[in-house]
Amino acid sequence: MVERFAPTEYALQSLATGALFPDAGWTLDAPGEQQPALVRAVYAKTQLELKDESWGIFRYADWLPVQRMLQGSGFPVTYRSEALAAELGLESLWITFSGWWPERGARMKSGSFKETEAYAVCGRLSAEENRVLVVASAGNTARAFARVCSENGIPLLLSVPEDNLDALWFDQPIRPCVKLIASRKGGDYYDAIHLSNLACQLPGYFAEGGAKNVARRDGMGTTVLSAATTIGRIPDYYYQAIGSGTGAIAAWEANLRLLADGRFGSKKMILRVSQNWPFIPIHDAWKARSRQMLPMDDDEARRKVEIIRAKVLSNRKPPYPILGGLYDALEDTGGNVLYANNEEAMRAAELFERLEGIDIHPAAAVATATLIADARDGKLPAGASVMLNVTGGGEERFQQEHHLHFLKPSLIFDLDPTLEDVGRQLQGLSFKL
Ligand SMILES: Cc1ncc(COP(=O)(O)O)c(C=O)c1O
Repeated sequence: MVERFAPTEYALQSLATGALFPDAGWTLDAPGEQQPALVRAVYAKTQLELKDESWGIFRYADWLPVQRMLQGSGFPVTYRSEALAAELGLESLWITFSGWWPERGARMKSGSFKETEAYAVCGRLSAEENRVLVVASAGNTARAFARVCSENGIPLLLSVPEDNLDALWFDQPIRPCVKLIASRKGGDYYDAIHLSNLACQLPGYFAEGGAKNVARRDGMGTTVLSAATTIGRIPDYYYQAIGSGTGAIAAWEANLRLLADGRFGSKKMILRVSQNWPFIPIHDAWKARSRQMLPMDDDEARRKVEIIRAKVLSNRKPPYPILGGLYDALEDTGGNVLYANNEEAMRAAELFERLEGIDIHPAAAVATATLIADARDGKLPAGASVMLNVTGGGEERFQQEHHLHFLKPSLIFDLDPTLEDVGRQLQGLSFKL
C-alpha cells in the first residue's frame, strides 16, 4: 500500500492576509507576517475521494498534508444512534467514535482522537528527517504519539508531568526511538511544556507545533469527514468537549472544505463545544464576547483543574484569540460554549454505556452531558441532524482485554530546569532502534 501512496498536493494559506505559499516542510507560521494567525492547508483536490478502510486514517489523504503513509492506523467511525437518540427524543443523532470498539470498526489502540492527529503529523514528516520530534502532553496526545512513532521507527521525545505517567499505557512495549522525560512531581502540563520548549532549542530537536500544525488540525478534522461521508451531508449541529479547542477549529475547517466539495450540502454546523465546570475559561471569554482570554489567577486555575475529572480539558492558553482560531470558528458558525460538571458528565457516561454499549472518556462524557441538557431544554429543532464527537472511548475495555506495558521516563527534571541542564542530560539519550 505504501508504494501506491503519492504525497498529497497542497499549499498553505495565511489566515491574516490570504497569502498562499508552499510548505517548506514544517511551516507553522506564514513567512514574514507579524500578526498571530493560523495557516491553513489548501488542497489541490477540492473533492474528497475516500479510499477504502485498509488505508486506515490515510483514507482521507486527499485532505491530509502528508508525504507518506504510516502503518497501523485506525480511523473514526460514525454510526446512527438508536437507543441514546430515542432516550433524548432525537431523530437524527450520529455518533462519531474514536477509540477502541472493534465491533463497530473503531481500532484506535491509544483510545482517543489524538491518534488521528498523531498519524497526520507523523505522515507530514519527511522520511529523511533525522531530527527528533518533541511533543509535550498530559496524557492522550503523548500516548498517541508514542504508539505511532514506536510502530513506525520515528524518533520522538515526549515531555509529560511525572504525576501523569500512569497515562502512558500500551499493549506493546515502546521501542527505543521514543524517549520520555518528565517534570518532577507537583508540576503540571505547563512545566512539561516548559521542559519541551527548552529541548526544542537544542540542535537536533524540533517542535511539533500544536494547533499551528496543519497536520494536527486536519487529522482531527477526519472526525467530521467521517460523519459527513457516512450521513451523506454535513450535520446541523456539532458537539465536542474542548481543552484547547483545536478539534473544534479542525471541525470547522473540515466543514469549509466539504462546502467547497459541493456534494455534502451548504450548511455550516453549529459548534456546541463544552468544558468541564469549574474550569471553564473559554466559556467565560466567549460569554463576555471577548476575543482575548480573560485574566486568570494561576493558583485558582490550578485549584479548578484539580477538581475536574476530564483533566485533558485543562488548557489555559488555548488557540482561541488567534486569527482563524476558536473565536473565529464560533463566530462563523453561530456556535456556543457550554459546560457540564463532574456529576453530570458521570451520569452521561453511564447512560451512554448502558444505551450504546461502550465506556467513554470523561471528556466525551462532558460533551454527551451538554447534548443531553440541550435535548432536554428543547434547544435542538425537530429533525436536526446532530453529530456527537465521542473523542475517546473503549479505554476501560481495551485495558481489560490487553496486558499493559508502561513507558518509563529516561530522565526526570526539576521544575525550573535551565537550558544547560536539559542540554547536558539529553546528550545521554539515544533514539536509535
Ligand atoms: C478524549 C479527548 N477529548 C477532547 C479533548 C479536547 O481536545 P482539544 O484540546 O483539541 O480541544 C482531548 C484533548 O486531549 C481529549 O483527549
